[in-house]
Amino acid sequence: MSFHSVLFVCLGNICRSPMAEAAFNDEVRKRNLPVTVDSAGIGSWHINQPPDPRTITEVAKHHIDIRNYLGRQINQQDFQNFTHIIGMDQNNIRALKKIAPANSHQKIKLLMDYVPNHLGEEIADPYYGEQNAFSQTWEQVKLGCFHLANYFELKNDE
Ligand code: 4NP
Repeated sequence: MSFHSVLFVCLGNICRSPMAEAAFNDEVRKRNLPVTVDSAGIGSWHINQPPDPRTITEVAKHHIDIRNYLGRQINQQDFQNFTHIIGMDQNNIRALKKIAPANSHQKIKLLMDYVPNHLGEEIADPYYGEQNAFSQTWEQVKLGCFHLANYFELKNDE
């Protein structure tokens, strides 16, 4: 299989996409998949900031430490560098397609598109919720990343 690279994207790069980066890195490591992983935000508010403390707390419950993650904003080069660009909600997809060169539109997908019977489903922004909202986000992100890893595992056999 050729080498693949995944960029998870959300609005701020402090809640959903760092969670996806952590959950998917865990799958990649456990299954020994030849895939690199990163995350970025559509917006510029949280450049060089660690994830939201509630994200760090939720992910730590699953024994993954992301205190060293730093926010960054998506850039044009990302559309060349990554083979898969994965947004969390339809606003992310619309924003990505607006800035992406036309020849990279096919790389852009929703995370939940990889889950059977969840095509088009969005991962809601937990930012204005309580800690409990972050637990729900984790469950959804974890499910998406499990199926995304299945997708790459199958590609591996091609
Ligand atoms: P995220 O959540 O997109 O899942 O990281 C957000 C975090 C911060 C903001 C928006 C969404 N914000 O507007 O600062």
